[in-house]
Amino acid sequence: MTENLPKKSMSDIVALCKRIGFIFQSSEIYGGLNGLWDYGPLGVELKRNVKEAWWRDMITHHDDMNTLPGTPEAFSMVGLDCSTIMHPQVWRCSGHYDLFSDEMVDCRETKARFRYDQMVGRWVSRGADQIFATAPEGDNAPELIERQALKHFGLRTKHADQLEWQSEITPLPGIDDLSRVLAPTAKELGTLTEPREFNLMLETHLGPVKSDKSRAFLRPETAQGIFVNFKNVMDSTRHRLPLGIAQIGKSYRNEITPRNFTFRTREFEQMEMEFFCHPAQSHQWYTYWRDRRLKWYKDLGLASENLQMRDHAEDELSHYSTGTADVEYAFPFLPVGDYGELEGVAHRGDFDLRSHMEGKLDEKSNPLVVQLGEDGKPKHRGSGKDLHYRDNLSGEKYIPHVIEPSAGADRATLAFICEAYTVDQAPDEKGEMQERTVMKFHPRLAPIKAAVFPLVKKDGMPETAKEIYLALKKHFNVFYDEKAAIGRRYRRQDEAGTPFCITVDGQTLEDQTVTVRDRDTMNQERVKIADLRQMIADRVE
Ligand code: GAP
Repeated sequence: MTENLPKKSMSDIVALCKRIGFIFQSSEIYGGLNGLWDYGPLGVELKRNVKEAWWRDMITHHDDMNTLPGTPEAFSMVGLDCSTIMHPQVWRCSGHYDLFSDEMVDCRETKARFRYDQMVGRWVSRGADQIFATAPEGDNAPELIERQALKHFGLRTKHADQLEWQSEITPLPGIDDLSRVLAPTAKELGTLTEPREFNLMLETHLGPVKSDKSRAFLRPETAQGIFVNFKNVMDSTRHRLPLGIAQIGKSYRNEITPRNFTFRTREFEQMEMEFFCHPAQSHQWYTYWRDRRLKWYKDLGLASENLQMRDHAEDELSHYSTGTADVEYAFPFLPVGDYGELEGVAHRGDFDLRSHMEGKLDEKSNPLVVQLGEDGKPKHRGSGKDLHYRDNLSGEKYIPHVIEPSAGADRATLAFICEAYTVDQAPDEKGEMQERTVMKFHPRLAPIKAAVFPLVKKDGMPETAKEIYLALKKHFNVFYDEKAAIGRRYRRQDEAGTPFCITVDGQTLEDQTVTVRDRDTMNQERVKIADLRQMIADRVE
């Protein structure tokens, strides 16, 4: 974040999203549903553009004839669209059934449930009585902890100086004795249960009878659809490795504490690509995809100072990964200096293909262990299908290694919204400086590319403006507006993030030119009607 700019207010951003139709709470008229959101008319266009930019970069504009800088050789990219419910065995072999869980604690008194690793607290005493007051981690945790402690000791806010703080804020998992812990909003001490594992997969049942046999899961990631189709793709296309297979689609996770607007939700969209390559080249490809994915966000307008690439520490790696780096963004809901994950780029080795071929993790969660039956032969817990790759030219047979850039479409959309949100000063119709809210999206992401206005509703201006609108609409998402003063119409489009406002005025009828106002600079230039389409196309690129 640029040092001298004030931190953006997340509540202002959330309010704007609702007010002008980017994002609404799901089922809002019934009080909403935690961790679920709907995209409004502007939001759906924005998110479609984010996904399209990703798909284009990964698939449709990918040139597999050329060796790109930083890559060992030319490579191919194809897409897939898999079902969101898959065979239950997929999740046993992927490790999700046994390992995809968070530790949670329940409060016996308030019945609230918290993610153990997201609870913080502070030792505080008054006289001989010492407690550990807690709150869910976040911006207002210090305030909540103090409020809890005051309540426990029966003190009013003005007597806060009677509290003796015995520690800094620390994570709850560092505390051994839960009997002195005061849970958020609880009155009694020691009401938190010991942490317990909680699987994050959402369950459903297939068919008319609900039983263990009919139990299935909504996919928690799109990646597995790609792994189980690897053989189908190789058999049905004539691609050689290295090959990337990409998919965009919904995933579901029963998050214990969904929060921070659309950052952590229970239903979200992922943009995942599994890149299958020769094991000997896998580290080169890992570096390549790490750099390329960071660049994608920068090219679409996220400021370098708000972005970082962070390598996972050894103990942070997922069960399948031998190396992971996260692309992270300084979301405004985080404390200054903190970053939240946008995307993970993981070196998954041959874990997934081997697992779907041979078996699952053993009881101690050791990966890549082939389960042996009583007869000493491998028990095929996986599909038992041969998922090796044989190179037609060299004849070499191997299990490919996989590099996975895995992005969240909703998180990326949220980051672009936060980055675009700008409040500046601009003159109104009377020339007086007023606060202006403007969404400075990259033109390619902007939900509406251009708005077309007649300056006034007479003298043939609306007719010409409508003609321009209809002509441009064949190529871009454009908007027509003839209501209200021109200044008000500009402001509405600034809030929607529309890069160009095209106005038909008296001169248009004489020389077939219009004014084009730039959203960011507010400068206006005269452009021939005949050149509008190309001008917008150039800028959107
Ligand atoms: N296949 C690997 C995988 O799924 P992940 O780090 O669990 O890895 C990848 O998820 C991306 O999906 C994250 O970087 C994030 O952008 C998005 N994501 C994960 N859980 C999410 C949630 N609960 N809400 C919104 N986005 C989520």
